[in-house]
Amino acid sequence: MTIVPVDPRLMGREVKRIVFTERQIADRVEALGSEIAAAYPDGELLALGLLKGSFMFTADLVRHIPRPLQVDFIVAGSYGADTVSSGNVRLLYDPETNLEGKHVLLVEDIVDSGRTMQKLVELLELRRPRSLQICALLHKHIAEHLEHPVRFVGFDAPTEFLVGYGLDHAENFRHVPYIASLA
Ligand code: IMP
Ligand code: MG
Repeated sequence: MTIVPVDPRLMGREVKRIVFTERQIADRVEALGSEIAAAYPDGELLALGLLKGSFMFTADLVRHIPRPLQVDFIVAGSYGADTVSSGNVRLLYDPETNLEGKHVLLVEDIVDSGRTMQKLVELLELRRPRSLQICALLHKHIAEHLEHPVRFVGFDAPTEFLVGYGLDHAENFRHVPYIASLA
């Protein structure tokens, strides 16, 4: 188990362990960028980050995709209680970028039940992109069957509550540069 040093970013909260270090994240993100570039030899590519969780991942990832691309973001919300993902997703911010005819890469922080992502894919497919794939930094592999599988995965994640590198707990810890499991 990693010994977690005192970190002033954590507001006195204890962290069980560091699950992925800054170094591990940086190396994996760089490799993912190359994988993505190789997977799109031609056509227009749009990296579409799902806010807020993917803000840091998207920013780092696009810097490691050595090909022309565009970047935009979407904000999604679910109707009803938000502790459990209800599966009823709507767009709170709709990208101005036209998706039609483009390779769209939806960039997610973490796939848990996968419901948010599945619904988003259905919504975005109506805009007739040339292709629509998902890239998630973390995948908990909880869902037994995802209709739209995640094409690019950063890390398989433990089924613990993770924070840092964009992931929050009640809006805190998003700025933590590593990924930790909350005690
Ligand atoms: P899903 O619809 O169940 O896949 O939920 C995905 C969303 O829930 C992610 O985009 C996160 O915002 C949030 N989420 C799921 N697991 C975690 C976690 O371990 N830490 C922080 N947020 C999480
Ligand atoms: Mg969240």
